[in-house]
Amino acid sequence: MRKYSVVVVGIGLVGTRILQVLRERKFPVKSIKVLARSARTETIDGVDYEVVPASADAFAGAEFALFAGTEGAKGASQLYGWEAVKRGCIVIDNGDDFRMDDRVPLVVPEVNPEALRNHQGLIAVPNCSTVQMVAALAPLHRAARIRRVVVTTFQAVSGTGGAAVTELERQVADVPAGKPANPQQYPHQIFGNVIPQISTLKDIFPGYYGEEIKMIRETRKILSAPEIAVSATCVRVPVYFGHSEAINVETEKKLTAAQARELLSKAPGIVVVDDPAKSRYPMPLDAAGKDEVFVGRIREDSCHANTLDLWCVADNIRKGAATNAIQIAEKMIEMGLVK
Ligand SMILES: NC(=O)c1ccc[n+]([C@@H]2O[C@H](COP(=O)([O-])OP(=O)(O)OC[C@H]3O[C@@H](n4cnc5c(N)ncnc54)[C@H](OP(=O)(O)O)[C@@H]3O)[C@@H](O)[C@H]2O)c1
Repeated sequence: MRKYSVVVVGIGLVGTRILQVLRERKFPVKSIKVLARSARTETIDGVDYEVVPASADAFAGAEFALFAGTEGAKGASQLYGWEAVKRGCIVIDNGDDFRMDDRVPLVVPEVNPEALRNHQGLIAVPNCSTVQMVAALAPLHRAARIRRVVVTTFQAVSGTGGAAVTELERQVADVPAGKPANPQQYPHQIFGNVIPQISTLKDIFPGYYGEEIKMIRETRKILSAPEIAVSATCVRVPVYFGHSEAINVETEKKLTAAQARELLSKAPGIVVVDDPAKSRYPMPLDAAGKDEVFVGRIREDSCHANTLDLWCVADNIRKGAATNAIQIAEKMIEMGLVK
């Protein structure tokens, strides 16, 4: 079997998980290089990885570069993404820098693998909250055409990065002991709280924060359906791993709850957990550490025709980032898209 040289850029929460998932899924690795800002050795699950400072030339000779650096002008993707493509690498980027770029397919492999065919070297993983939502919506869209989605998210602090996990751990100890919360990652204390703000306000969608705008625009791009109406309220909750979403979805054709349950049960990568009488539904404590998207509380909206309510949970670092990135690489190999 052919093996591939892989570069992993960034070794924070997502980069670490990429290294773990590559091993778990037995990705056919010939060699692994880990790049970050500073040189050191990192040990993950007993395996030592030598981390070297990122540079454009570090990508020469690799088939895949999985990017998990921070976003923006000083982040790895903007500095090295297209440089790696120039050096012959397929770049799979977890960040937001190029998701809405027309040159860049935005892919959830169970939903729109065909978008990979026209790739120009750089492929983007959607925002974590979008990945799990479109995975749950796609089977319903194919069967009954979605008209409108209204979603409220309950997002784990790990979605902000390693420093936010540390901040919640610190507040869990400090606040009950009477010490100040001293929030750094969020505008308010997250321990014992719920913060209806993820990212910052943007002019393009007045009143919406950045994460909400990502869910709106990315959903339309992935489903190739610019006409779908999407509204989102994204909320940070004091959970470590696993995003939860309450999704209200209106379709052109009526789907009963039983039909939706059947469609979702058969969909790849989806696990239906839906026995509300026995208090069985997806929860972040159960989804953390797993690669699937969990859906439950599937019911017909009692006050609006052709509309369903769903509850959807996934591990934001796995399916929302690392696992989805590796599944894209696996799909490209399967489709014969790697030179
Ligand atoms: N957390 C999530 O749920 C999630 C989900 C989907 C997508 N993402 C995206 O995935 C990316 C990584 O997120 P994370 O949570 O893993 O962040 P993180 O824990 O803050 O780690 C960031 C990593 O990026 C490295 N880095 C930053 N700038 C770099 C540069 N210019 N060159 C090379 N390496 C650089 C850092 O290097 P040093 O260690 O040397 O400082 C660090 O290892 C972000 O773009 C994020 O938006 C995150």
